[in-house]
Amino acid sequence: MYNNVAVHQSHHNETRRRSRKESTTNKTRILFRRIVDNNDKRKAYQLIRQFMDFEPTNIARNYSSDIKHFIWKAYVESRIQQNLSVCAIDENTNEMVGIVVNFVSTRKHQQRPAPFHPVYAPHQRFLKTLTGDVFHDLKCQKYFTMSFGYVRREYARLGVLGKLAGMSEDLANQLMCDMIITTTTSEFAFREACKRGCQPFREISYKDYQDPLTGENVFSGVPTPHSRARLMFKPINLYNNLRCRL
Ligand SMILES: CC(C)(COP(=O)(O)OP(=O)(O)OC[C@H]1O[C@@H](n2cnc3c(N)ncnc32)[C@H](O)[C@@H]1OP(=O)(O)O)[C@@H](O)C(=O)NCCC(=O)NCCS
Repeated sequence: MYNNVAVHQSHHNETRRRSRKESTTNKTRILFRRIVDNNDKRKAYQLIRQFMDFEPTNIARNYSSDIKHFIWKAYVESRIQQNLSVCAIDENTNEMVGIVVNFVSTRKHQQRPAPFHPVYAPHQRFLKTLTGDVFHDLKCQKYFTMSFGYVRREYARLGVLGKLAGMSEDLANQLMCDMIITTTTSEFAFREACKRGCQPFREISYKDYQDPLTGENVFSGVPTPHSRARLMFKPINLYNNLRCRL
């Protein structure tokens, strides 16, 4: 059914007009938009819960429903409130089928540290090691993070993540960020990030990683073909960015 997906980027007010125009084709249309209204924020919650069943490091940890809720509260909900996250909607079913959660960090307004959770703590230490101190390590002032990239299985390999990432990069440019970062825990997201010019800054092999406190090989259960997590970065040239706007 979804081999025939037409991927279209659409702004809210253009959606109706375009859908009528293209309703004569048999293709499933996918619309792309920013997550701003509460209905989409509710749908995002459902999709992020699914994300946790398919993201390689979460698969390895097999988290309970409570931990999934903790992850949503600690890492996603407040970030979605920045209104910079983007989603893909199947126009036929009105379902959300893809998401990227975006947020901005500046030296003055850094993200609040996530609360501690004893079960999730090894994962938190891993993420902290992977991300490091972005301002210091990548010498930037205002950076844009793309996180929780997820596309429902039936819609994978159609370039949906690529489209969502492109929209996210446009937002980063508009906000005059000087750096885009993303941590890729899957080989697929890594390939997509490479295609749009991101480079790896730091990488951690799942096979070799041991928790610094307990020595536990926390991610030995990550399924193939995923072998490592990477912090990826793409600098934004503010001068060129400004010139393009003039
Ligand atoms: C990673 C993910 C978001 C990619 O979304 P997508 O829309 O399929 O990505 P794209 O179509 O833009 O393709 C990106 C690359 O991944 C490849 N890919 C995606 N799914 C794949 C699959 N199941 N098997 C093999 N390759 C796959 C694509 O072919 C493409 O690489 P290539 O064209 O250079 O060979 C999606 O697979 C997913 O949601 N996975 C589960 C959650 C997850 O791991 N998220 C990422 C955390 S960093």
